[in-house]
Amino acid sequence: MLECSLWKEGYLINVKEIDAQHMYFVFLIDKVKKHIDSAQSKSAIKNLLHEIGLYARFHFFSEENLMREYSYPEIDRQIKEHEDLIDKLSATSSKLQLAMVGNYDADNWATMQEIYQFLVDWFESHTIVHDKSMGHFLNKVMETG
Ligand SMILES: [Fe+2]
Ligand SMILES: [Fe+2]
Repeated sequence: MLECSLWKEGYLINVKEIDAQHMYFVFLIDKVKKHIDSAQSKSAIKNLLHEIGLYARFHFFSEENLMREYSYPEIDRQIKEHEDLIDKLSATSSKLQLAMVGNYDADNWATMQEIYQFLVDWFESHTIVHDKSMGHFLNKVMETG
């Protein structure tokens, strides 16, 4: 188990494969903080954000496939939220890229802190509200189906 200080029991939705993916997602978000705290190179942080973007896409596909398989009625709202995160990640990566080109150090670190806080807040609210509802639904239909 990849437990880290950011992980909370409250994130569990009782769907094993999704819980395992969430745990790894949180592990990657925690890594952003560690990179910032240890003042890792900006390109290392940019690469990590790229990894997070790819992992998020994989994770969202897993959830969306499960929701389709079991005809989850709130799937559109989930997809919309997932798309918003991907858009925001791309936008912040571009912003970071521009800040790096401009070589404004203070801006770089402020942008990274901002991205980190955004990821924590997004993960927390999306998982506790939307993924939890999906979990309740899946637990019901997987048992009876
Ligand atoms: Fe999720
Ligand atoms: Fe989700």
